[in-house]
Amino acid sequence: MPVHEIKNPIVKHKLTQLRRKETPSKIFRELVKEIAALMIYEIGENFPSREVEIETPLQKCKAPVIDEENFVIVPVLRAGLATAEGAAQILPGASIGHVGMYRDEETHQPVEYYSKFPPDISEKIILITDPMLATGGSASDAIRLVKDKGAKKIFFLCIVSAPEGIKKIEEEHPDVEIYTASIDEGLNENCYILPGLGDAGDRIFGTL
Ligand code: PRP
Ligand code: URA
Repeated sequence: MPVHEIKNPIVKHKLTQLRRKETPSKIFRELVKEIAALMIYEIGENFPSREVEIETPLQKCKAPVIDEENFVIVPVLRAGLATAEGAAQILPGASIGHVGMYRDEETHQPVEYYSKFPPDISEKIILITDPMLATGGSASDAIRLVKDKGAKKIFFLCIVSAPEGIKKIEEEHPDVEIYTASIDEGLNENCYILPGLGDAGDRIFGTL
C-alpha cells in the first residue's frame, strides 16, 4: 500500500512550529495533538459511513454517520499518547489500546514493556499512533502485536517519518496504510530523524 504524505499547508505550518528547537513543551504537546487531529480528518476519507434516518427541527432526512465504536486508537507509549489524544478528540467513541515500547539506546531496537487492548479487535479499524517513524522497529512490532490479536484493517499515523522506517513497514506489513505529515531526509548515526524534531517523548513530557 502506498504511504500517504499529508500535503495540507495547515498541517505543514504546525509541523514547522513543532520542529523549532525553541518550542516549549506545553506548546509542543498541543501541536502534536492538533496535527494528529487534522491528520485523522485527512485519513477519514477512507472511513466507512452509513446513512441513518434522523429528524432535524424541521423534517426527517437521511444523514451519514460513522460508527465510532468500530475504531480502536492504539498509542505507542510514551510519545503516542499525545497523538492518540488528538485522534480521540475527533473520534471520541473509539476505544483505546496501548502498546508500551522504548528503543534501546545502544541497539536502537524496540523493547516492549506493556500492551493492553479492548477484548476483540479482529473486526475493528485500528489506528496506531506515534509521532515518529524512524527505523520502523517500534511501528513494526506494534503492528505485529495488533495483528496477533486478529486485527486486519490497520492504519499507522505518524507525524514525522524517515524513508528507512517507511521501507521497513512496506516490506514487513504491506497491508498497512501509513499516513505521515512529512517524509524527512533520513536517519543520523543514532537513528534520529533528520531534520526531524528531536526526541518526541522527551519534548512532549519535558524530560529532556
Ligand atoms: C520513539 C518514538 C517511537 C520510536 C521510533 O520512542 O516515539 O516509538 O522512538 O523509533 P523507531 O522507528 O526507530 O523504532 P522512544 O523509544 O524514544 O520511547 P518514548 O516514547 O518512551 O520516549
Ligand atoms: N524517536 C524520536 O523521538 N525521534 C527520532 O528522531 C527518532 C526516534
